Amino acid sequence: MKGVCYIKLVANKMDIKQQRNTFTGKLGFVMTAAGSAVGLGNIWRFPYLAVKDNGGVFILCYIILAVTFGFTLLTTEISIGRKTHQSSLTAYAEINSKWGFLGTLASLVPVIILPYYCAIGGWVIKYFTLYLTDPKQDTIQDNFFSNFIAERYSPIIFAIIFLTLASFIVFSGVNKGIEKYSKILMPILFVLIIGIAIYSLTLSHTNQDGITKTGLDGLKVYLIPDFSNMTIKDFFIILMDAMGQLFFSISVAMGIMVTYGSYVKKDVNLMQSINQIEIFDTIVALLAGLMIVPAVYIFSDDGMSAGPGLMFISLPKVFNSMGSIGNFIGLMFFLMVLFAAITSVVSVMETIVSSIIDKFKISRKKSALIVTIYALIGSTIVCMGYNVLYFEVNLPNGTTGQILDILDYISNNCLMPLVAILTCILVGWIVKPKIIIDEVTQGGYKFTRKNLYIIMIKYVAPILLVVLLMQSIGIISL
Ligand code: PHE
Repeated sequence: MKGVCYIKLVANKMDIKQQRNTFTGKLGFVMTAAGSAVGLGNIWRFPYLAVKDNGGVFILCYIILAVTFGFTLLTTEISIGRKTHQSSLTAYAEINSKWGFLGTLASLVPVIILPYYCAIGGWVIKYFTLYLTDPKQDTIQDNFFSNFIAERYSPIIFAIIFLTLASFIVFSGVNKGIEKYSKILMPILFVLIIGIAIYSLTLSHTNQDGITKTGLDGLKVYLIPDFSNMTIKDFFIILMDAMGQLFFSISVAMGIMVTYGSYVKKDVNLMQSINQIEIFDTIVALLAGLMIVPAVYIFSDDGMSAGPGLMFISLPKVFNSMGSIGNFIGLMFFLMVLFAAITSVVSVMETIVSSIIDKFKISRKKSALIVTIYALIGSTIVCMGYNVLYFEVNLPNGTTGQILDILDYISNNCLMPLVAILTCILVGWIVKPKIIIDEVTQGGYKFTRKNLYIIMIKYVAPILLVVLLMQSIGIISL
């Protein structure tokens, strides 16, 4: 009897492994992973940091970190996924039975992110529809944005529209949904961002004082470093900013890349795919700067702000200053941001959905329904954080915030660095890097930066990450 049960169990497990969805090939995988990586971080955070952190110096640090630190973390997570055929919740335990807690911790991050990402996605849809329907340009009025998010129902309705789009894609499955839409949306996003960036560089504007600024002047602000007065401390701040940004931008330490890795076929060249994902993500971030920095430099005297302020307050003013074409550029811009946000939120949702499927062996439809209901309730609460549930909290990093900021702080500043540090310890010291190297070199492919990888995962990455964690939770201040 026992034996029969055992055979049944094994057969069942094999069934599930065999049934597991896969990406159709390398292109599908690269586009889907890039879809997750390219998100609001590329568009509203990278350009802001580049301007704040001495242009070229930040960009240089970012690129060097991308090919060392970023490549190490991305390779590790994707390989863990492909090796175990499991999503984040169960993958780590499969590698080392005592480290299952790391799977739980990593899977907690998307659970925290999903509600507030839907709220922000709703704001993006609201602005997109405004550019589509409202030529009066309400968006440029002072307080338009803060009034909008303080409304009782409208932000919730837009968050639900955003969530419905994402749910539809996740319900449709890995290759008929996520991969299919990433393959369509990512190339369009790329074309849109190139188009707007080129347009932004050709701009020129003379202000009331008769001073003419051109797009190329803005380009200089973005790219040319200023080394005068730069101290070691300044450099260190830039380095930490670049690392924090990279880390968030490539979607690591939240189980996403483990989950996507689990859908990659064994004959795909992992190293080559990882390089392409990173190149795509970095080029979009650089283009976002080319698109935003010159435009803001030319038309706005307030300078660059970070986060929602840049996208929902400064940029609409910039679009308005462009004259009649500004409406069209604004529409294209919010369409592009919507694509970036949708493909990212899909990855967050899929990570939770897939973890539930792997852990509780239920169908995709059931799992997706549970997650959708959770996101619906969660994002409603986040939206209510700006009206009925409004309060102000002082966060340890010196900022004040509402529900959205608290969730963002817990996931980005605390949990993500912690998950990444623990992943480095697990792979670098407990199970040893060979496990990842063997996965990457399956099928005879070369692991091009093997020695670099070993040094990074064992020593450099964990040390840098500990500093980042200490800085982001306020133990050290720079
Ligand atoms: N990588 C995304 C970005 O750059 C961030 C992200 C992806 C956040 C998925 C959450 C979920 O914006």
